[in-house]
Amino acid sequence: MTNFLEPAALGRLPLANRLVMAPMTRNRAADDGTPTDLMAEYYAQRATAGLIIAEAATPNAVGRTYPNITAIHTPGHVAGWRRVTDAVREAGGRMFLQIQHGGRIGHPATSGHTPLAPSPVPLPDTIFTPDGHRPTVVPREMTADDIRATVADFATAARRAVEAGFEGVEVHSANGYLLHQFLAANTNRRTDAYGEDRTRFTVEVVAAVAAAIGPERVGVRLSPGLTVNGIEEGDTERLYPALVAALRPLGLAYLHLVHADPEAPLFRRIRASWPGTLIANPVLPELTTRAVDTAARRLLDAGADLVALGRPFLANPDLMTRLRLGAPLNEIRDRYLMYVGGATGYTDYPALDAQASSASMVAWEGARVA
Ligand SMILES: Cc1cc2nc3c(=O)[nH]c(=O)nc-3n(C[C@H](O)[C@H](O)[C@H](O)COP(=O)(O)O)c2cc1C
Repeated sequence: MTNFLEPAALGRLPLANRLVMAPMTRNRAADDGTPTDLMAEYYAQRATAGLIIAEAATPNAVGRTYPNITAIHTPGHVAGWRRVTDAVREAGGRMFLQIQHGGRIGHPATSGHTPLAPSPVPLPDTIFTPDGHRPTVVPREMTADDIRATVADFATAARRAVEAGFEGVEVHSANGYLLHQFLAANTNRRTDAYGEDRTRFTVEVVAAVAAAIGPERVGVRLSPGLTVNGIEEGDTERLYPALVAALRPLGLAYLHLVHADPEAPLFRRIRASWPGTLIANPVLPELTTRAVDTAARRLLDAGADLVALGRPFLANPDLMTRLRLGAPLNEIRDRYLMYVGGATGYTDYPALDAQASSASMVAWEGARVA
């Protein structure tokens, strides 16, 4: 049985353990998307994760989703991220950056642009902007030139991420953002080649990013069947095996599945057809040590190589220590502060009391020896 606390590797990159901090947008960047020193502190606190996938960063201005999210398309963004990666490296951590284009999830009040999308199908409901919640706008259908420019922006953003000190990047093709909008039938109503084959845009973006920085530095995040952000794929069971087959020859660092259920036939099918590293992000029934432990073990037993966790890392800078000791987890104190604010609800989640944790470590080691 694979133990998630034991060392692992991602290609040639050694990892201290098999747990990955999942990408989480925390909206603490400067107004122009530049990462701040507070963000460097937050990520360095969590450097004991085997791998950190840093939150979504936009590859261009039009792809911006919400206020104070991060970006990676100017020298200033690169300099800001460099301070983050330096802090994490100094603390012994490894880090990828997620690259995300919002597509229809965006608003002129936030980005200064009419959002772009595969088809002019608006996000239902409202969207959070610097002026509070506003009705969404109808996105502009991407032309062939828009598509070429966006693919190129992803590749340039990936080069900038490497320049900023990241080990690699994760292309965000999940959770209803631009690439997922191309994959899903209800948001991609195109009649050109990108509509006939809805996997085409994701494959083109990933191939361009892999050509820019090397496939061993590139992962892809997918959320098969997830209906978040108004997505209806329509043909999940056909779509994802086709997408995975098209991505396979690229020789990527990893495939990352959201809402991974080790019992689901599609999970098993994707695992069987993906020869490379598979990162699985489970659905946790509750945020407890036992739930994390059980979910991680079940996924590793079902063939996942690494397990990604979001909220457990958000609320526990010393998650690895707590899992080693079987110690309780901090609760998320204020859901609002997950996406807004400064240090409160961000860098002030406490680590275990040092004395208490060394006492329980001794007890735990003693129990193991006995
Ligand atoms: C505050 C917050 C921000 C998130 N931001 C992102 C993001 O930027 N990119 C992404 O792919 N997923 C994002 N997610 C989803 C997480 O990566 C993860 O899939 C989800 O939280 C489920 O894992 P968990 O139960 O371990 O938290 C976010 C989740 C949370 C709670």
